[in-house]
Amino acid sequence: MAGDWSSEVVEPHSEPALFDTKVAHCARVYNYWLGGKDNFAADRVAAEQAIRDSPTIIQNVRANRAFLGRAVRFLAADAGVRQFLDIGTGIPSGENVHGVAQGAAPAARVVYVDNDPIVMSHARALLTSRPEGATAYVDADLRDPEKVLDGAAATLDLARPVAVLLLAVLHHVEDDEDPREIVASLMNAVPSGSYLVLTHPASDVDPEPMARMAAGLAAMLNEPVTLRSRAEVASFFDGLELVEPGLVQVQGWRPGWAGEARSPVALWAGVARKP
Ligand SMILES: C[S@@+](CC[C@H](N)C(=O)[O-])C[C@H]1O[C@@H](n2cnc3c(N)ncnc32)[C@H](O)[C@@H]1O
Repeated sequence: MAGDWSSEVVEPHSEPALFDTKVAHCARVYNYWLGGKDNFAADRVAAEQAIRDSPTIIQNVRANRAFLGRAVRFLAADAGVRQFLDIGTGIPSGENVHGVAQGAAPAARVVYVDNDPIVMSHARALLTSRPEGATAYVDADLRDPEKVLDGAAATLDLARPVAVLLLAVLHHVEDDEDPREIVASLMNAVPSGSYLVLTHPASDVDPEPMARMAAGLAAMLNEPVTLRSRAEVASFFDGLELVEPGLVQVQGWRPGWAGEARSPVALWAGVARKP
């Protein structure tokens, strides 16, 4: 892989993290779009190019984080879920899963999973539990669901309902890596009463700018970016029961206020219960 490798201690509890600062990384590009400071020049170049290609990207990622808050609040406060498995955590930003979940249910237990060492370092430093609950961090790749589940089982009781969160991450899994099978493996491992929470960048909303942005990002990130249509995203929920309002553009999923509902977002979002 091109570029210089840097070794940096991001926070005191972690191992030194090795990463290439000259190749943009999706977590740091996303951090830039969200107004964060945990990014490098290559990330900012990629992020700015994506903004030029698809000017609504900032609105999209903010709406995605706002959805995270609404969905987790619904699960913890209304659906009684006490265990959360957040895969593709991202660099902590604003409201994070354990903060929202433990705000409603202090004993909620949350496992954060990512395959990026910088994300994991920040997560360990910042995503700390209230004493009544638990947070844990698993360094694993979504494409290895067994490893994800083995790691999660140290903190979560997989015989009890779990909300599995896959927010803005499945577009990094290509069709020939069988993302449907990955999602099915995760949901097969948790019992009835569990939930799947998923957002996915759309190929069929704002299609031309989105396709331009995805192609540009894939080249600069050196990893796949696969947009999917509403029908393709719907297939991830096979065998599950979508809660109201179903699979919708992110801003339309139980919006907190009227203005939120009005800004169209090129991401599909749904929350579904395992019967
Ligand atoms: C766009 S960010 C989304 C962050 C957060 N889920 C959200 O929606 O705000 C994607 C995250 O998924 C992680 N990621 C990408 N591919 C992954 C994989 N195969 N396994 C685990 N994590 C992955 C990246 O490191 C990054 O932190």
